This record gives sequence, C-alpha cells and structure tokens, in this order.
Amino acid sequence: MTAINPVTDLSRDGDVAVITLDSPPVNALGAQVRAGLVEAFNQANASDAAAIVLICGGRTFFAGADITEFGRPPAPGPGFPELMVTIENSKKPVVAAIHGTALGGGLETALCAHFRVAVPSAKLGVPEVALGILPGSGGTQRLPRVVGVQKALEMVTSGQPISAKAAAASGLVDAVVEEGKLLEGALAFARQAVAEGKPLVRVRDNDAKLAEARANPQIFADFRKANARKFRGFMAPENNIRAVEAAVTSASFDEGLAEERRLFMELATGPQAQAQQYYFFAERQAQRIPDVPDDTPTRQVKSIGIIGAGTMGGGIAMNFANAGLPVTIVEQTQEPLDRGLATIRKNYERTAARGGLTPEQVEQRCALISGSLAMDDLKDADLVIEAVFERMDIKQDIFRSLDAICKPGAILATNTSALNIDEIAAVTQRPQDVIGLHFFSPANVMKLLEVVRADKTAKDVIATAMKLAKKIGKVAVLAGVTPGFIGNRILAQRQREAQKLILEGAMPWDVDRVLFDFGFPMGPFAMSDLAGLDIGWVKAESKGATIRDVLCEMDRRGQKTGAGFYDYDEQRNAIPSPVTEKIIRDFIAKAGTTPRQISDEEILERCLYPMINEGAKILEEGKAIRPSDIDVVWVNGYGWPVYRGGPMYYGDRIGPDKVLAKMQAFQAAMGEAFKPAALLEKLVSEGKKFSDIKA
Ligand code: 3HC
Repeated sequence: MTAINPVTDLSRDGDVAVITLDSPPVNALGAQVRAGLVEAFNQANASDAAAIVLICGGRTFFAGADITEFGRPPAPGPGFPELMVTIENSKKPVVAAIHGTALGGGLETALCAHFRVAVPSAKLGVPEVALGILPGSGGTQRLPRVVGVQKALEMVTSGQPISAKAAAASGLVDAVVEEGKLLEGALAFARQAVAEGKPLVRVRDNDAKLAEARANPQIFADFRKANARKFRGFMAPENNIRAVEAAVTSASFDEGLAEERRLFMELATGPQAQAQQYYFFAERQAQRIPDVPDDTPTRQVKSIGIIGAGTMGGGIAMNFANAGLPVTIVEQTQEPLDRGLATIRKNYERTAARGGLTPEQVEQRCALISGSLAMDDLKDADLVIEAVFERMDIKQDIFRSLDAICKPGAILATNTSALNIDEIAAVTQRPQDVIGLHFFSPANVMKLLEVVRADKTAKDVIATAMKLAKKIGKVAVLAGVTPGFIGNRILAQRQREAQKLILEGAMPWDVDRVLFDFGFPMGPFAMSDLAGLDIGWVKAESKGATIRDVLCEMDRRGQKTGAGFYDYDEQRNAIPSPVTEKIIRDFIAKAGTTPRQISDEEILERCLYPMINEGAKILEEGKAIRPSDIDVVWVNGYGWPVYRGGPMYYGDRIGPDKVLAKMQAFQAAMGEAFKPAALLEKLVSEGKKFSDIKA
C-alpha cells in the first residue's frame, strides 16, 4: 500500500490497482482529494496493473465537490477538469465502486470511469440544482449520454438521487454487487472486463442515447412546460435544462462542455446560488445547540403515544409509522378515533395509488398505528405527543393524567402552536421531561418541526427530540417559549400588515400578487381562502366587525364554499371578486378614511420588513439560537423562497441599515407596531449584519 497523501492510498490486489479515498465525513472532492486522485491515477496508469478500481472508505462514495470551497479563490493543485480528464483517459479499465451516495461531482467523477458498480443501498444523483448550480464538471454532458435525455433532465432538475436498482435499469451502473462486498464485486468486475477485453469506451465518445432527442428537439420545450410551476422563480433548473440541451445540439463534446461552463458560471456568480448554498449550511447548523453538545446522551424512543386523532394527531402518527415506529393514538370516544384511523388509511392509500407505496407497505404502516380509548395504554410509551384542541385547561388536564400514567423518563410533548409550554409543564411533577414538538399541517408532509425548549426541559430530552426529528425526516429547529414560537410569531407581523394594507387601498389580489412574485407559493389572502376563513370564526358572535366576519356571514368561507376573498371558477382558479372589493370599499368609507394608491414596493416592505424586525426581537430575547435558524423555519414551514435565503438572510441582502431606516419611517407614520428591534439598531450602529451574530 502506498500512501499518496493523507486521504489517498494506492494498493494492489493481484493484477488490479486499488485507489482508496478516505476523507471524512463524506469524501467531498476538496483540493487534497483531487490532488490525491490525480496522482494515484497517474501512478496506477504508469504501473503494470491490468485495471484500476476506485473506491471510498467511510460511509459514502464522493458526496460531491467540497461546498466550503465555493466562493473562495481557487485552491492550489488540480481542479475538476484535470481530474476528469485524468480518469477518463486511463489506458486501463477503470471501475468506480459506489456505496452510500455518489452525488454531484462524485457522480461526475464516476461518469469518467469506464464502468460503475454499486451496492444495492447506494444512491446516485446530481443535487447541484438545490445549491443553485448545475453539475459543472461535465455532468450535464455525460449523464444524458448514459441515461438518455429525458431521465437526465429529470435528474438534473429535481436533484433527487436514484437507487442502485434504478441506476442499473437506466445504464448508470453496469452491475449491482452484493451489499458489504463492494471491493470484491468491483475487483471481480474489473478482472472480467480485462478477461473479456471489454472496449474502454469513454462516455464522452458515446452519442447513441442522444439520438432520440436529436430527432425530437421538442422534448425540451415539453419538459419546461410540464414543470413550469415547480421551477417558477428559480434560475438553476433552466440552466440545467439548457446545459443538457447543449449536449444534444453542440457539434462536439468539448463545445457542449464549454456551454456547460458558461451556464455554470452564470449561476455560480448569481445571487440565488449564494442564497441556496447559505441555506444548505443553515439547515445543518440548526442541529447544533451550544449547550447541548453532539455527544449528549439520548433517551430511547421505541414506542409513541399520541393524544388526539384529529388532522394533526393523525399526520403526526404517520411520520412515526413511516419510520417503522409503533404508535398508539388515544381518543376520548370511538367515533373520532375511527374517523382518524380511517383518514390515515385513506392518506396511505392515496399515496399508493400514485405509486408512492406498495399495498404491502400501506398494510405495514397501518398495522403500526393502533387506536385506544384508554390513556392507561400509554403507560409504556417512550414519547407521548399531545395534539388536542388549543385550550390551556384541556392540555393541563391531559398533562396531569400523563404525569400519573406514564413511566419515569418518558418524554411528554405538546404540539401546541400558541400556548405557554412552561404553564403546561408546571402541572406535572416532571417538567424536565416536557417539551414542545410543533408540527406543521399537513404533519405527514411538512418538513419543519419546531422543537420548543421550555424553562426546565432537560438537555437529554432536547437532544433526543432533535435526533428523532432527523429519523422521521423532519428539519428541526430549536425555539424558546414565546407566543407563536419562531414561525407564527413572525407570520403574525405579515398578517397584520396584509390586513391593514387592504383597508388603506390595496386589494387582496394586489398583496397576494406581490408576495407571489417575490416567490411565496401563495399570498396571505389566497392562503386564507385555502385554509378556510371560518377557522376560529364563531357565527353566533359575528357582528360584521372585520372583512373576514362579513365574508363568513355571507357564507363566503373560502375555497370550500366556492368563494372567499376571491371568487372561484369550476377549476378552482381564483378570480378577483367585485363582492369583496365592495365590502372593502364600504369598510373604508365607514371608517371615514380615503383609500390611496399603494405601490408594490410598499406592499413588499410593509409585509416583509416587520418580519425581519420581529426576527431580530426573537434573537435578542434568545428565543432562537441564531439568525439562520429563523431562515430554516421560514423556508421549510412557510414557503419563503429558498433562493432568497430566508427573512434574516434577505435582511442582510437589503442591508440592516435600509431595513432600520424604513422601519423608523413606518414608525413615524403609522405607530409603534413598527418600533425597531434594539438588536437591529445595535447591528446598524456597529456596521454589522445578522450573519455576524454567532450562536
Ligand atoms: N461539501 C462539504 N461538506 C459537506 C458536503 C459537501 N459536498 N456534503 C456534506 N458535507 C458536510 C455537512 O456540512 C456536514 O458537516 P457538519 O457535520 O460539520 O455539519 C457533514 O458533511 C455531514 O453531512 P450531513 O449532516 O448532511 O450528513 P447526512 O449523512 O445526513 O447526509 C449527504 C450526507 C447525503 C452526503 C448530504 O450531506 C448531502 O446531501 N450533501 C450534499 C451533497 C451535494 O450537494 N453534492 C453536490 C455538491 S456540488 C458539486 O458537486 C458541484 C460539481 O458539479 C462541480
């Protein structure tokens, strides 16, 4: 064995040279890895080996370029182009042996090998689009040559990896070898290739799979059209498509490569890539809690109890069943319990009908969820999540019962989105075991989980909740106890301004359009119509005091009644409503104010700057650990466009001084709702940004 450098070894297994890279945690292709690879390939090619196997140590094949190198001056040593050429021009068969994840530059490296083998658990993909870029080391040129244009378009624009099995079906891997026996499998494949004299065809030289798209260039327009909604606002999907298109239309591979480079640079130097890469690290950073170190012991969670079989309880239960954990749902009476369990089954069956689950998986998951009418059945649960009506007295009663029933050390969680968790914990003898787990609706779909730390929550309970969140596929963010926690507290600012704006002269569709164009999936009024205007509305008490009251009194309760702020046609298209417009105008007239023309700029600033300001208040009160945690909440839970990073990142892009100046101007004109946060003032006075704040 020769150590090429600290992360690269070159060894021999009989007649085959084996190049092994081991650069934890994920073998990212940073400068040292690239240098080691180029040198190892040069030496292996110069040796008398008959073939070369490229394999990685640790948990995965190369997970991509080293993202920490992005935006820095080029590192010394060989870059990607040299690495790719070195591998691709090897004179002996090169077999890439893949386990874990071959992602981005990692898959591009494997595409320069002559052959690829993988274990069944391996995943292969090009996630660059999620970082606002494209696979810029020939990936967009080689991938369609291997898997065909349609599949390549799907892979580069979705960023989703595919399984080894799917990779074998599409030609991306040449053989799937036994789990745990990757090296043996790769060596055997290499020897067979030598024995059979398999031709060493470089991917770049094989155009066969481009022929179909060359004959049918319409494929690109069709793909754009089919995905227009998904790609709205993002720059990266379009450049990924253009790069694959270049593979098809260019006169030569190198010409396509040059176009790929140009499209890559356009993205890499743009604002969206910066925001999306910031966000990649923000999500990972959110897992770090300064006073709860990574090695904090966790509690065992093998069985879950849920109280409440409503929409929330059912959705929460599905998360755990999806991860293979048994769940007991407790209700007070049979009817809502049966309804809740039936809804869960219906949801799974709907997924199965779309091909997302097999019928067996539906049965397995449903079998993991059982119903009960007895709280006593939760006595052995490791974690109980309460998901009942938002009333303090009801929740406190439940926690008193849980305190009496549950085994010592069980974690007692509440899914409250608004109530004070300290007050809930206080009725138990074990406040250290009480925590908030704020799921977002629909709980089986939404990625965000606010983990809420109450005054006395034990550190191992927090550590357990954060790890468990990852296990069930959630992105967890730690929040402190404050009304609405991080997400809803900030949302309240936007809601208030949206409501005020329509009493000053903007129409609901004006506000919605501005926020939609900013990149939100929908504006606040369209959102209300979707959720139902009657949430929290009580008919008997309604006196036409708000626009919402009047709409509900007219039975315009949102999409479900065919009208709300908007009118709806048969296809549920929202149409600005003359009825709503008249109601608003009447309100304004009654208040004796004069409607004014409100610019799009004002709508945006009125809605967003108070959110940034509220984020600053949350930070100064210590209810969020760091600005980027707030961004993770808003991107994951509220549809803030990831290509704008999140509210705090956006505040930095605008400039905290500009946000402060605007808040001061709003405060002077419209009062204390706009009072700038002390932290915002401090940042500006020190010439700093939110990103300068460390946890
Ligand atoms: N570069 C640098 N660091 C990386 C990295 C990368 N490509 N991928 C992961 N890491 C780091 C993470 O930041 C994290 O660091 P931390 O422990 O200090 O927080 C650590 O590796 C472990 O990552 P995860 O916590 O995400 O571990 P998981 O096991 O959950 O996931 C993974 C592993 C699936 C590989 C996931 O990390 C991932 O998706 N990584 C990004 C992959 C990617 O986007 N690759 C493309 C890069 S761009 C590219 O290749 C451009 C090329 O075309 C030129």
